[in-house]
Amino acid sequence: MTVAARIMDLGTESAFEVLAKARVLEAQGKEIIHLEIGEPDFDTPRHIVEAGMQAISDGFTHYGPTAGLPELREAIARNSREVRGTTTDPANVVVTPGAKPIMFYTLLALGEPGVEVIYPNPGFPIYESMIRFTGATPVPMRLFEERAYHPDLDALAGLITDKTRLIILNSPENPCGSALTKAELETIANLVKQHPGIYVMADEIYKDILYTGEHYSIASIPGMEERTIILDGFSKSYAMTGWRLGYGIVPEELVPHVVKLAVNSVSCAATFTQKAGIAALEGAQDGVEAMAAEFAVRRRLIADGLRSIPGIKCPEPEGAFYAFPSIEGTGLSSGEFEDRAMAEAGVALLSGGAFGEYGKGYVRLSYANSQENIQKAIGQLDRLVRAL
Ligand SMILES: Cc1ncc(COP(=O)(O)O)c(C=O)c1O
Repeated sequence: MTVAARIMDLGTESAFEVLAKARVLEAQGKEIIHLEIGEPDFDTPRHIVEAGMQAISDGFTHYGPTAGLPELREAIARNSREVRGTTTDPANVVVTPGAKPIMFYTLLALGEPGVEVIYPNPGFPIYESMIRFTGATPVPMRLFEERAYHPDLDALAGLITDKTRLIILNSPENPCGSALTKAELETIANLVKQHPGIYVMADEIYKDILYTGEHYSIASIPGMEERTIILDGFSKSYAMTGWRLGYGIVPEELVPHVVKLAVNSVSCAATFTQKAGIAALEGAQDGVEAMAAEFAVRRRLIADGLRSIPGIKCPEPEGAFYAFPSIEGTGLSSGEFEDRAMAEAGVALLSGGAFGEYGKGYVRLSYANSQENIQKAIGQLDRLVRAL
């Protein structure tokens, strides 16, 4: 079989592979604690579920407009104006099945050979995968453990060339759990404004799970809204990963291209999930708040627990639900740590190498699991490491 050469450039998300391995062990009767997969372990709030079921009963089971139901686009625009302070118009909103397609479409619309795309590393693996797929050159913006996984912005200035077309930001960040400060975003905005051809893709999917201060969007900085593609959605904030509902808030000149990519690929997001999305944005937000409060308790448990294990260092996570400790002091590589944690400690976690070159020497643990399981996992990892 001959496949297109660009297919060979596609990477993957190892969380799904590690989950599959864990399922095999579980089928053999082994107990595994799942700290690999990046999805809230909470149910979708009841009023959202009911809105989705009602929509199915009401016949929202057909194709809808490619860019999304007008009432959802309006709700998203209103929400963004309120929470980010942007001037978002419904016409800027493109609704997609999950937020991931916005990543895909942005990179397909802007990436091509000869173009450079700056992206966080360690970072969400699909960024680098998709940059390569388009033929563009991935330029890693390193996040440093000693800076609590923030970038060096002087170094970022040096990465920008006349070939740079896109800078990807992710705050709060997967896998590092860091969150860019307002001052950092302002510095980045000033850099971007010196280069008229550069867009920013701001992946804000974890914006509601933040332990320090308020979320701040680069799009709210004067002159940046027209240069920023905001990627956001319902998966994390409303525990709706399986509903597949996300969106982009896209500068006017990019909207037709993004919509054309959507019509060429998915036609539209399911209409009943879009109805549920309206209920999510417009209904009570106490589910989001309760979930974030519970994640804050687990963050303490996991960060303190990891630090108590010899050879492990763990910067304080600032947002999302991931800890990204250095495991270099254990003498294992991150791949070995992933394998032995699963096989010998019964803990599924991810090698940091899956998040890019600068993730080597680290592992990612998702704390989207109960306090009890987190404590148990820490105990089992501690025993594994002490026995090395
Ligand atoms: C940083 C980041 N962006 C985007 C997504 C995609 O979200 P969705 O499930 O809505 O496609 C994820 C999911 O894990 C993520 O971690």
